[in-house]
Amino acid sequence: MKDFISLHDCTKEEISDLIKLAIKLKDENKKGITHHLLKGKTLGMIFSKSSTRTRVSFEVGMVQLGGYPLFLSSSDIQLGRGETIYDTAKVLERYIDAIMIRTYSHEDVLELARHADIPVINALTDLLHPCQVLADLQTIYEHKGRLEGLKLAYIGDGNNMAHSLMYGCAKAGLDCAIATPKDYAPNEEVCRMAAEDFKAAGTTRTLTNDPEEAVSGADVIYTDTWVSMGMEKEKAERVKVFQPYQVSEELAAKAKEDYIFMHCLPAYRGFEVEPEIIDGAHSVIFDEAENRLHAQKAVLATLLA
Ligand code: CP
Ligand code: NVA
Repeated sequence: MKDFISLHDCTKEEISDLIKLAIKLKDENKKGITHHLLKGKTLGMIFSKSSTRTRVSFEVGMVQLGGYPLFLSSSDIQLGRGETIYDTAKVLERYIDAIMIRTYSHEDVLELARHADIPVINALTDLLHPCQVLADLQTIYEHKGRLEGLKLAYIGDGNNMAHSLMYGCAKAGLDCAIATPKDYAPNEEVCRMAAEDFKAAGTTRTLTNDPEEAVSGADVIYTDTWVSMGMEKEKAERVKVFQPYQVSEELAAKAKEDYIFMHCLPAYRGFEVEPEIIDGAHSVIFDEAENRLHAQKAVLATLLA
């Protein structure tokens, strides 16, 4: 593994090893055992979009591993004023050991990784959010004791989270059902590529417009904001269209009795999810958020140590 850009590029074993390492690092962190695996290493963190979890967990993760995180807002570096991705890659690789990037275009991240001789980590694009889903798989494993044979239902927008969850479920052996409004289905190319992964894993993937069909018998209910970063202008329209896709107590009653509720956060209570669900007994949202730290430390250690 040179880069961490899409779970589709990882093997089942690589994902399983990352989750095992994340659980080990988490356990040792709780016991106060430190590992300076990245002593003297620097991670450049390019952000073109806002972030709470990703920024803080990557920065803290680097510090815990003995390395140094460098926050690079795209509005401060020359990339934001039109310097090419090629030149940015060739310059940064002379100073630092890895690049983490959160931006709009997925193509930009692929281009950066093509030109940079150092590892590139995708910290969210309009297309994918693999770091989140790695932490989510760790969280599901911790709560359910297994991944294979479980069913995850994703309700809402066919966005970056839906795409990475499809790849993650297929690789880890979960069945995945995605319910979106008709005009907000997941990207066709991602669906096609994920279909290959589901076929290889022998698991099922359901794409539907019916949230009840998706949630029926699910072990995990997952949702995300209806208005992703960059889509703010569509908010009024989206709030109308997505109303029937709210994760409500009535909808959750169709899932298994011991289902867990997940959300990558930030969440908007009363929109994609009822407060009773996200703040209720089935919710594991803060475990997910915490696991961003441990899962990303596993990624950093694997790519850089
Ligand atoms: N879930 C997630 O990536 O959160 P941030 O946008 O706060 O980084
Ligand atoms: N789909 C959301 C995820 C945020 C972590 C977005 O892209 O804004």
